[in-house]
Amino acid sequence: MTGSARSDWQRDLVRELTDSPPSENGAPHTPEPQPQLPVPRQPRDPRTLPAPTPESRPTVDPRLAVALGRPQHGDSAARRAGAGVRRLTASAGREVAEQTRYAQELQRPVTTGRVVAVTSIRGGVGKSTVSALLGRTFNHYRQDPVLTLEADAALGTLPVRMGAESVRWSAGDLARILSPAMQLTDVTGYLVPVADGGWLLPAGQGRVGAPLNVATYRTVTLALRRYFAVTVVDCETLPGEVARTAMDTAHARVVVAPMTAEGVHGTRQVLDWLARLPHSALDSTVVALSAATPDATLDTKAAAAHLREPGVTVVHLPYDRHLAQGGPIHTAKLARDTRDAAVRLAAEVLGRAVRVR
Ligand SMILES: Nc1ncnc2c1ncn2[C@@H]1O[C@H](COP(=O)(O)OP(=O)(O)O)[C@@H](O)[C@H]1O
Ligand SMILES: [Mg+2]
Repeated sequence: MTGSARSDWQRDLVRELTDSPPSENGAPHTPEPQPQLPVPRQPRDPRTLPAPTPESRPTVDPRLAVALGRPQHGDSAARRAGAGVRRLTASAGREVAEQTRYAQELQRPVTTGRVVAVTSIRGGVGKSTVSALLGRTFNHYRQDPVLTLEADAALGTLPVRMGAESVRWSAGDLARILSPAMQLTDVTGYLVPVADGGWLLPAGQGRVGAPLNVATYRTVTLALRRYFAVTVVDCETLPGEVARTAMDTAHARVVVAPMTAEGVHGTRQVLDWLARLPHSALDSTVVALSAATPDATLDTKAAAAHLREPGVTVVHLPYDRHLAQGGPIHTAKLARDTRDAAVRLAAEVLGRAVRVR
């Protein structure tokens, strides 16, 4: 190719890109015949390019982390002192039997990775808190690897609740990197190890950015199911597209309901929607009725009965001072009733996840 042919071609290309102006007589510009050029190479598929390593970013500004204060216990000191005495009473035997049953359910072998999606009708209800409790509970009882995945790009709190001090790779990054040839040890190199065990994959780096899309969600969950016995997904709120996809494709679901009349009413609409999905999604749904404030006045029994009507199990997650505090969840600081509720919720949902398909 001659030098002038190349510069003509470049000039034409620039003109095309900058939206060629009409010619002087007002008629639309007609491009001159082009010299024969080699076909430009297709840009390389970004999935085959080596991914640049993202920077590690703190999940909370260190100045705020210092300002958080000491973790409080969910139960008051008086209640903690009384708990030992209560456990010696008559109901202790029944309690032990129940706990054994839940432990067995939580340790059930899985043939292929099970995905549990957690969502709610609005934010601030306790999705990330419930997801973190579930991830920790599964991990505590199981020998095989457990993943907690954040599918809520709206500056979610899951990494903080799981105790991650910094995050690097996000679900979007992994969608480009994951390949069937990878071993578990390759994959975990991109995940955040959780202090009590298990793994975490954040949706992003805690910045306002591109939200997670359905294609990314599908790619990541499908690929990671091969490595993790249980994946807990902290979804965005309904009716977001990713949340609907997650609810539709999960093996079991948790809908977190706030302890208000309007919250319970709205959650009931979600249950009625799940009942209309083709593969009886309601059979594999559990409701976590969460009291995120000590000032809730709604009658728990009436709220639970209303939610149970379409045929779901409801687990009441009581108000817990330690959970209300925000920041990392320390299992040892949870109130006894909260721990029991988390174990029951995890057992109920895993039992359903294992039974389907
Ligand atoms: N069971 C609970 N007891 C006390 N506070 C709670 C409880 N569940 C949630 N919270 C509070 O509600 C806040 C919001 O919860 P979060 O899990 O971040 O909601 P979401 O993920 O639905 O937006 C938490 O920071 C915590 O303070
Ligand atoms: Mg959240």
